Amino acid sequence: MTDILVTDIPKSMGATVLNFDAANPMSNDTRTLIIHALHDRQFLVFPNQTLTQAQQVAFTQQFGPLEQHINADFQGDDIAQVHVLSNLDDNGVPTKPEAPTGTECWHTDKSYTPTPSFATLLYGIEAPAVGGETLFANMYAAHDALPEADQRRYAEMTVVHSWEQSRLKSGSRPPSEQEKHAAPPTPHPMVRTHPATGRKALYIGTHASHIDDMLIEEGRALLDELLTYATQDQFVVAHKWRKDDLVIWDNPSLLHRGATYDETKEKRVLHRTVVRGGPTF
Ligand SMILES: [Fe+2]
Repeated sequence: MTDILVTDIPKSMGATVLNFDAANPMSNDTRTLIIHALHDRQFLVFPNQTLTQAQQVAFTQQFGPLEQHINADFQGDDIAQVHVLSNLDDNGVPTKPEAPTGTECWHTDKSYTPTPSFATLLYGIEAPAVGGETLFANMYAAHDALPEADQRRYAEMTVVHSWEQSRLKSGSRPPSEQEKHAAPPTPHPMVRTHPATGRKALYIGTHASHIDDMLIEEGRALLDELLTYATQDQFVVAHKWRKDDLVIWDNPSLLHRGATYDETKEKRVLHRTVVRGGPTF
């Protein structure tokens, strides 16, 4: 059998994993290697995979329990924990959605809950020829590049994340009462210590609504300023999708978003599964 090969993507993060078949269960050694690489490089790309939805679920479960989205639009028809991200209508024709989904705004998954997602996986069924990349912004690097005085100041701050505010900001469909009940506003430290690596990361994004003990508008202005700072090119890597790519990323240390593409011409279909995280501290 050929040895698995993990090759760093030449920037501050990301790696490609070759000679790997995600359809087969991982040995303990392989799982340890992959989780180590994920913590070290923050996102991993496994090219040329062939996965049914059930096989993607089985692969995802090897990283921890799956979670389901509170948004009913994001729950799959076949397997509830597999969210089909697609711009195709019922006839398979590329179509622009009536309202933005919010995935094009910088965010970290489920930060509006007390236990935000650990890892998210996307599997490429259809990839656009132009655009539609998934962009990652390195929140370790953004934190570490701040002046020390700012690092200390932000380490004292608590940010309230809100699904409802996130929907309003992104222009998406307003949340239902059931969704608001399932995800009430939730506080998290602005600087989060990664539970596995012990490194500090800025924990912000579109779901961040305001800052505790600060005037709402003042806090929002600071959050906007920080988001602009933390998503500059120097902190960002783009994953250009190819059909059959499987990508996994570490939510606590990254922001991500989908890049725009011509939704009326190009097809973009991704299967998404998410590994549940723990409480932040
Ligand atoms: Fe996301």
